[in-house]
Amino acid sequence: MLPYRIKVVEPIQLLPAPVREKKINEAGLNVFRLKSQDVYIDLLTDSGTSAMSTLQWSKIMLGDESYAGSESFFRLQNSVQEIFGLPFILPTHQGRAAEHLLDMALIKPGMLVPGNIHFDTTRAHIELAKGRTFDVTFEEGHSSTGDNPFKGNLDCKALEACIEKAGVEKIAYVLITITCNSNGGQPVSMENIAAVSKICRHHKIKLFFDAARFAENAFFIQQREKDFQKKPIPEIVQRMFSYVDGCTMSAKKDALVPMGGFLALRDESLFESLKTLGVLYEGFYTYGGLSGMDMEAMAQGLKEVIDENYIHYSVGQVQRLGEKLKKAGVPTVTPFGGHGIFIDGRRFYPNIPENQFPAQLVCVELYKNGGVRSVEAGACMAGRNPDTGANIRPTMDLCRMAIPRRAYTHEHLDYVADAVIETFEKGKTKKTGLLMTEEPSTGIRHFSAGFKYA
Ligand SMILES: Cc1ncc(COP(=O)(O)O)c(C=O)c1O
Repeated sequence: MLPYRIKVVEPIQLLPAPVREKKINEAGLNVFRLKSQDVYIDLLTDSGTSAMSTLQWSKIMLGDESYAGSESFFRLQNSVQEIFGLPFILPTHQGRAAEHLLDMALIKPGMLVPGNIHFDTTRAHIELAKGRTFDVTFEEGHSSTGDNPFKGNLDCKALEACIEKAGVEKIAYVLITITCNSNGGQPVSMENIAAVSKICRHHKIKLFFDAARFAENAFFIQQREKDFQKKPIPEIVQRMFSYVDGCTMSAKKDALVPMGGFLALRDESLFESLKTLGVLYEGFYTYGGLSGMDMEAMAQGLKEVIDENYIHYSVGQVQRLGEKLKKAGVPTVTPFGGHGIFIDGRRFYPNIPENQFPAQLVCVELYKNGGVRSVEAGACMAGRNPDTGANIRPTMDLCRMAIPRRAYTHEHLDYVADAVIETFEKGKTKKTGLLMTEEPSTGIRHFSAGFKYA
């Protein structure tokens, strides 16, 4: 059931194929370097690209832009306290700013942050604070095939072994990313969250969520975990957060806003020390880099994202696209995740050498064939080992098609399915991929790298 109707529309255009080819060549075969007006269906990201509701727009008029003690902050705080049960909140301009503050406070050089595959900005911030990530995703989470319903789960034995080897004092905190963006938007089960929490509490190690897609994770728990099938989403969310010491949040995903984020915490003393850092890097602690209007939209969005009708439709749209591609034999990560369909580049182009960026080529060809923009989440994004400088070989080389929430209809996504299937059929005999010709020296290279055909 479609739980909304369209009130405002934004024009989009499909450029002719020869023009698209010219545009992507000029962009160095990197979709990040395309202008948005040259894209027909934009599945680059689900971040900040949701459509806002009438209520969110109306709440914007209530934005209190006071420097200190803004009413909008207190409304946001109420929403967060009510939904997550976490008492302390620090707004930030987006998710990575929350990561920045947390890592500055908790990481000392050489410390580790174990977790399921860390998102790229998350890893970059941990490394900036001179810490290191340690991947304890359980084995099946690194495979694009299979039907394990909770491929975001952490391997508790690997976590215990990591703590034992490094020593408790070397673990800055443990991070669970819900859902796990990097392996396909895969959820983490309540059972696994509880088990990881037990380990952390036993060792007195702090446990945090990267909560960008918390509502989608709760939805999968409701759909796939035996004890939760009759439980309402808000109750599942409360239970999930009862196991952690806090979270970083990119509100650009599961708070349905173009910009915003926050840190939510259980511990008052940590909150007090982060407040000071927040003032330096984000702004006074009752606005944290956001306008009152942003905070109002976020406070409302957080309520809408846990609505059963919304979440069933939103994740349902993703599943529907996945099923269409599966039927046509397109190799994707399975089971389908919550915020997008991830194409397996190595199986899509089985004859292209792994070091010639097959997933990046999928993005390029999909744009050329249909004006659809996706994004690489594979060998280019993985970057280099900060200690050795060697290219990291990720276990999967993926092309992600992220579905902006409430923005596209089934008709748009049927067009996307046709474009992907056509690209797949055309590419079966391709034997050469791409070579990287421009590589920025910073840790995050995929935003601006340049390529040529091999
Ligand atoms: C899992 C995850 N964590 C953190 C972030 C960073 O959030 P932001 O883009 O708001 O800085 C993202 C963004 O895509 C994400 O997907």
